[in-house]
Amino acid sequence: MTKTLSSDLIPQWIGIRRPASSDPSPASCLRKEFRIDGEVRSASMEWTALGVATVEINGCRIDDGFLSPGWSDYRSRVQLIRCDVSAFLRLGANVIGVTLADGWYAGALLWQSERCHYGESPQFCAMLRINIGEEQDILIPTDENWRVHESAITSADIYHGETYDARLAVPGWSSPGFNDSSWSQAEVFSAYRGIKQPKRCGIIRCTEQLRPVSFSVSSDGAGWICDFGQNFAGVCRLVVRNQPRGNKITLRFAEMLQDDGSLYLENLRTARATDVYICNGDRCEEWTPQFTFHGFRYARIDGLVGSPDMTTLTGLVLHTDLEPTGEFECSNADINQLMSNIRWGMRSNFLDVPTDCPQRDERLGWTGDAQVFVGTAALLYDVRTFFEKWMFDLVDGQQENGAFPDVAPDVLTAKVPDSFGNAAWGDAGIICPWVVYWHYGKLDILREHYDAMCRYMDFQNETSRDGLRPETRYGDWLAIDAVIPQHAPVPSDLIGTAYFARTAEIMEQIASLLNHPEDTSRFQRMKQKAREAFRREFVTESGRVVGDCQTAYLVALAFDLVPEKLVEPAVERLVTLIHQRNDHLSTGFVGTPLLCPVLTKFGHSDLAYKLLLQDDYPSWLYPIRNGATTIWERWNSYTKTDGFGPVGMNSFNHYAYGAVGEWIFSTVGGIQAAAPGYSEIRIAPVPGGGITSASSSLRSPRGIIRCSWTIGSDNLELDIEIPPGSPATLQLPPNCAPSYPAQLSPGHHTFKVGWCAKLPI
Ligand code: BGC
Repeated sequence: MTKTLSSDLIPQWIGIRRPASSDPSPASCLRKEFRIDGEVRSASMEWTALGVATVEINGCRIDDGFLSPGWSDYRSRVQLIRCDVSAFLRLGANVIGVTLADGWYAGALLWQSERCHYGESPQFCAMLRINIGEEQDILIPTDENWRVHESAITSADIYHGETYDARLAVPGWSSPGFNDSSWSQAEVFSAYRGIKQPKRCGIIRCTEQLRPVSFSVSSDGAGWICDFGQNFAGVCRLVVRNQPRGNKITLRFAEMLQDDGSLYLENLRTARATDVYICNGDRCEEWTPQFTFHGFRYARIDGLVGSPDMTTLTGLVLHTDLEPTGEFECSNADINQLMSNIRWGMRSNFLDVPTDCPQRDERLGWTGDAQVFVGTAALLYDVRTFFEKWMFDLVDGQQENGAFPDVAPDVLTAKVPDSFGNAAWGDAGIICPWVVYWHYGKLDILREHYDAMCRYMDFQNETSRDGLRPETRYGDWLAIDAVIPQHAPVPSDLIGTAYFARTAEIMEQIASLLNHPEDTSRFQRMKQKAREAFRREFVTESGRVVGDCQTAYLVALAFDLVPEKLVEPAVERLVTLIHQRNDHLSTGFVGTPLLCPVLTKFGHSDLAYKLLLQDDYPSWLYPIRNGATTIWERWNSYTKTDGFGPVGMNSFNHYAYGAVGEWIFSTVGGIQAAAPGYSEIRIAPVPGGGITSASSSLRSPRGIIRCSWTIGSDNLELDIEIPPGSPATLQLPPNCAPSYPAQLSPGHHTFKVGWCAKLPI
């Protein structure tokens, strides 16, 4: 029954074999009873699943995770969770109880909610190792002796939701003494061929509970609409009293309401996003779905006997548990709301994988979105291990030709032609680890994936014509002028060539850091070739850039692709193009993150502020004027004149345009890394836009950095804190009298700097 130490004991993959079906499957219960005859000195459990699972010992959950062990490219890798479980064990009989569901492995995934992407039956694999002293280890591996049964969760699916029939609940099933003789023997599946990799990033947890802001009767009078006041990703805990046995309570979820007050569901596409609870008839019943999540602000409740109260539903905010590191606040309430929306956009989409959106039948690790947002993410939370983990997803999806996939984990390349190596998307494989290195100062992520990154550069090189990248799929995705996204005014080969030059430049630095001199010169040559191609093909002799739109100039100027003598006319043209739109942006996913940084880099922070503070369409604040609590996928996801944007793709919780957060934090706020890992710090706030004060802080790897500024009547007041060990410089805009210290020593500094020119900037 129990097994003592034997090095060749290998845990099996077990579960219930399920036929492929078009409907979500029930979750299964897996059970193992065993004895401990001695005092437990230590005990640890290592477990993983092809699917998602919760683990109990003697009736108690061993952790508070959701959707563990998370999503990886199961074809190559599963994440292994290791926990100390000694506190859960006791002398005598003990039980491990596991509830196992389809998750990303066998549940709906991708448009049309196709099921069984990786396999048909979810599987669980674990080893419990108990030390009772004197080199005596008891090993409890998963094997054919485990017992299995259907659970009370009659269907569980990430997109579609969960159904729990409380009448089927089996009390005590995960505690000792339960009679499992009517249960079946576990099915043993063939051995997993991929890697079991210890989980690098935190698990998904409930990090906050939201109370409803209001409950109102639905417009058809049949149910209730609960408003949480905040769009987020997670589930609802349901608490009901005095419901008849068998009563069916249905919860539906939406981000927005239609004009008549009903849920706006069209943007969910095929995701049913419906949770169902069938009551047992107890006086008070409580239920929290475990194996799904929804993106929502509103929940509609149907079937409840009686009226809900404020305790009926609680919103559980779910995401990978990351440590908050950056805070920003300023005197402008709209910008504070924008920063809050950016943070919520991140929280809603960092569930083990950085996803595009949390609500519709997609929720994929879109590389382009992550690439533009990683710099902002790294200022708000400690995302080092999160991106370390995701790099494996990217590399596991790397194609034979070296291209990185458009989504990681890669579920597209087998279905959609050319869904790899697309400009600004595949480049995430170079840019994300570089940004992570820059923020945390650890070379590991670069070292670990250096070969894969080199292969990506070879792919770019080999599929380019004399440095010129071919046209690829997305262009400046969702730019304002795009008739269809691929046909935005900026050609995709221009974006591709610009990114080729930029990634080669990054790789040149990485090769040098890792001491690969030959590669350093190889990437330097690649960079040169791509730059020359860019200039040859896309920059005219007078400094015009092909496409002649904001994004064309932005990538050219951001990545130093315009010849020195043409920089000025190119910047002027960019400014003119912005003025021609009445100081509004026209950019998509690629251009938007570059707008404010490029304007600041070339001395036009005043215009950057103007763009930032616009509040009519299209602008960052327009959604806020329309009640947004997260970042929208489109500038026109909703407009007062036209209502909801194109329904085929209209998420209200997409972080990509939130990439402006990096500029707000580092330029309005003023905290910047001047060297990797904040080993050198630059404090360089650029006050403007009528903002009278701003205050930011960052828990950097070197310690806390703070910068607050306030505009006084005749001076700028500064309050700065520098952690020990990092040299810091202070750089203020030219309208400040140059009487301030250029170097800041560790510690706390407060001083006032006079103006030498009129505001703004
Ligand atoms: C996603 C985007 C993604 C894009 C690729 C969309 O469906 O939601 O965020 O980057 O496809 O172009």
